[in-house]
Amino acid sequence: MFSKRICEIAKLIKPYKIIADVGCDHGYLIIESFLNSDVSKAIAIDNKIGPLNSAKKNLEKYNFNVRFSLSSGVSDIDDDTEVVVISGMGGLLISKIISDDLTNNKKLYNVKRLILQANRNNFELRKFLMENNYQIIDEKIIYEDDKYYEIIVCERVNEKIIYTFEELYFGPMLLKRKDDIFISRINSELIKLKKLNSDSLEVKEKIDRLEKIIC
Ligand SMILES: C[S@@+](CC[C@H](N)C(=O)[O-])C[C@H]1O[C@@H](n2cnc3c(N)ncnc32)[C@H](O)[C@@H]1O
Repeated sequence: MFSKRICEIAKLIKPYKIIADVGCDHGYLIIESFLNSDVSKAIAIDNKIGPLNSAKKNLEKYNFNVRFSLSSGVSDIDDDTEVVVISGMGGLLISKIISDDLTNNKKLYNVKRLILQANRNNFELRKFLMENNYQIIDEKIIYEDDKYYEIIVCERVNEKIIYTFEELYFGPMLLKRKDDIFISRINSELIKLKKLNSDSLEVKEKIDRLEKIIC
């Protein structure tokens, strides 16, 4: 019914049942999670009234247990929230939303899992997670509408997490699995970089890094 990206995010919620969708916009993720991922309660959060009303409208025909909140980040999540989803934004904004909470309200301390899907700056997002004791427990890469999307699942741990540059760049779980979509992404990046026919050291280093991964 919904995009592959939304369906894959919803699958990663299990075994948990209480979610908050930060930046819910159309509310599709919430609908998909109730219909196919056994979710029993959700908070639909957006900091703009237009998107929040669109979620309300799309959800009105269902009788799901959803509270709508016009608020920023996770400031208004309930104490029993198990999973927070933040998707379809930049990695720096996602990091800021998490960081604002960790330095102020600390509501995320009670949350069991974060599911994050950044449209850009995944390296910076992973680095931020590492520096804030979030361990990446799963990752998915999907290809849809000519774009690759990376989904990161993480949980807060007590011990220090250390990822290598390669793991931050490619994703520790994606790197371990090297599935077909991951490899085709590397190949398509390699084709683009080689087409540049550039003498720049930066481009050469990038080509080198990518080739090492698939050889
Ligand atoms: C591009 S949409 C993504 C919608 C949906 N999450 C998805 O993955 O398809 C981003 C949404 O996040 C909302 N947003 C941006 N910053 C936010 C914040 N700090 N707190 C809550 N919502 C935010 C925007 O208003 C917008 O509706």
